[in-house]
Amino acid sequence: MQTLELIGRAIYLMLPAYMANMSAVVTGKGGKPIDKGKEWRGKLIFGRGKTWRGLVGGSIAGWIVGIIMVAIHSPFGELPQALLPPFMLSFGALLGDLGGSFIKRRIGIERGKPAPILDQLDFVAGSLVLTLLVCHDWFTEAVTVDLLAAILILTPILHFLANYSAYKLKLKDVPW
Ligand code: CTP
Ligand code: MG
Repeated sequence: MQTLELIGRAIYLMLPAYMANMSAVVTGKGGKPIDKGKEWRGKLIFGRGKTWRGLVGGSIAGWIVGIIMVAIHSPFGELPQALLPPFMLSFGALLGDLGGSFIKRRIGIERGKPAPILDQLDFVAGSLVLTLLVCHDWFTEAVTVDLLAAILILTPILHFLANYSAYKLKLKDVPW
């Protein structure tokens, strides 16, 4: 596969996950924290940055993007089965992001403070692992090794660019 085509395919496939992650920032604003302020071993379980509205709103937003993709040029196969991978990619991204925050709190990194690598890859890992588990047949056929490598290399770069832009546009207080 040509490099440029591979880059395009990787980004296109992960659009539901990227959309989920980005829209949680918007839908989660002012929402109730998932951990209800509860602590575990003296630290918040997930922290104020993980809300139900972010989780649910982000999952739906990412899924909608996936459904639009199915209508335009489906990388997820045919309907109705094609509806499942984009939902798992989207929901899995936010579960991974939640897991990332759980780890950050455990190692003492406060909400909103950067955790390099973890911040950039927790959501891709959650997205891909959940989709692999639930949509095993689709995943093993669609996500080839070179595509997986492209996703893992490109995502941190895109994550950085998206967050830096959001910071410059004053949508976020910090550039990570
Ligand atoms: N967000 C949310 N619910 C989620 C995920 C994200 O409400 N499940 C919103 C929160 O307002 C959060 C913002 O999106 O502050 C940015 O997300 P993220 O960078 O993942 O959270 P942080 O605030 O940086 O917290 P953490 O240190 O736990 O990553
Ligand atoms: Mg953050």
